[in-house]
Amino acid sequence: MLFVEIMQAPTLHKLDTSKIPSQRRFMESQAPELMYSGAFAAGKTRILLEKGLFLSLKYPGNVGAVMRKTLVALKHTTMETLWRDVLTPELYKYYGCEFNKQSQILTFGNGSKIFFLGIDEPIKVGGLEVGWIGIDEAVELDEEDYIMLLGRCRLTSLGNGLKLPFRQVFLATNPGPDTHYLYKRFYIDKHGEVVESSSLENPFLPADFIERLKTFTGSYRERYVLGRWIGFEGLVYDNWSGRDMVISSFPIPKEWKRFRAIDYGYTNAFSCQWWAVCPDEPFWWEQGYRGMYLYRQIYMTQRTVPEHAEVINSYDEFISGTVSDWDAGDRALLQQHGIGTIKAIKDIVPGIQVVYNEITNGRVQIFRDSLIEKDTTLSSSSQPTSTEDEFALYRWADIPKNKNQKEIPQDKNNHGMDALRYMVATIGGFVLNPTPVVYGRRSSWITPHIGVGALGRQRHEGRRSWMKA
Ligand SMILES: Nc1ncnc2c1ncn2[C@@H]1O[C@H](COP(=O)(O)OP(=O)(O)O)[C@@H](O)[C@H]1O
Ligand SMILES: [Mg+2]
Repeated sequence: MLFVEIMQAPTLHKLDTSKIPSQRRFMESQAPELMYSGAFAAGKTRILLEKGLFLSLKYPGNVGAVMRKTLVALKHTTMETLWRDVLTPELYKYYGCEFNKQSQILTFGNGSKIFFLGIDEPIKVGGLEVGWIGIDEAVELDEEDYIMLLGRCRLTSLGNGLKLPFRQVFLATNPGPDTHYLYKRFYIDKHGEVVESSSLENPFLPADFIERLKTFTGSYRERYVLGRWIGFEGLVYDNWSGRDMVISSFPIPKEWKRFRAIDYGYTNAFSCQWWAVCPDEPFWWEQGYRGMYLYRQIYMTQRTVPEHAEVINSYDEFISGTVSDWDAGDRALLQQHGIGTIKAIKDIVPGIQVVYNEITNGRVQIFRDSLIEKDTTLSSSSQPTSTEDEFALYRWADIPKNKNQKEIPQDKNNHGMDALRYMVATIGGFVLNPTPVVYGRRSSWITPHIGVGALGRQRHEGRRSWMKA
């Protein structure tokens, strides 16, 4: 039988976990609930997949699931790591794998199976009965989702009279706020086992990536670099420096693309931003340019969309695209005036992360004279009158103590902030974090994955574990 051959064949697949001891603990644990909590690029997704692969090979006929909140995110992040680093073409062939793209099911020559699922596919998730579930970016899941999945992990018989010795739900996640149910469940109520890791512990990361991580400050550093469960508070963009980032204007080179980003408003400010994007090429970097430049903006209350459209249309230049909030009526009005819009990617926290990274890397700049006209109503009541004014006022909201608390900023001083986020998240951003945020694939200035060696060569020394038996 094929699986006997496989189990007896020399193990082609071996991960070097000796340099990241928490990965090894994660692999070894048989706790019914297990969480790998760690910072950006701490090796979470990788070890999650490695564990799933191991369980599939070790127990022929095993059935497992790799999941994330949305199937889209799973495909663009977790599964990319799977094909690139874990189940390379060579191993895929060696283990007799077949992947059905339609059903997103991976089968092995030994009869094992892995489902790849998003929680956003309730019909598929509903019928699940598995021996293990690996959940990536588990912090995204609501508590109900999580409890429901615990109930799906109940496979005991592998067929052929074989029994599965243990079942496990294992999670990989960035930390969230300390009010999150996962924090309560694992850290306070001690329902499961936790393994922790910080990015600074992953020796497989390129030096320049580590350098960039070191530029993180405040609560972002605590959470995403050091891997601590803490709530966001204070300024959303505590790394913004008006002194460095608000600059004198210069003629925009004709090679650069121009975009617009719009957040609608009447009582609140309507924000339209014109961005010029410097190509990510050494030629420009050498001249001191990088990132995006806000070269013109409307920031105005008490005017209708057609009035704004007239101003927008008075500038004669080629615009590669206009992203905006989703409001159908406002978009239709712009369309009537010849201004077509793309619906922005609106996920708040992932979007903020990318903007934050762009700011840290000095890639968001604003021309000092970009504002077309000052709104006197706003200035006479001491409210922000431009996008740049909002940075010092845009703050995280307190997290409500009730059920599924989402972390969001306060809903004020956010008109230019929203337009900025739409621009960066939708059109492109320099993605520091190699996994969490999902983008449209249309943009070429998105950082590629950080690729590092796939297979380790070393063996673990020391006590014999269940994994070798
Ligand atoms: N033990 C390891 N050996 C080799 N490469 C590793 C190891 N652990 C992680 N990596 C690599 O480091 C990078 C970041 O890991 P990843 O699992 O994507 O991090 P996270 O999910 O925590 O953001 C990936 O390219 C991954 O393949
Ligand atoms: Mg990951």
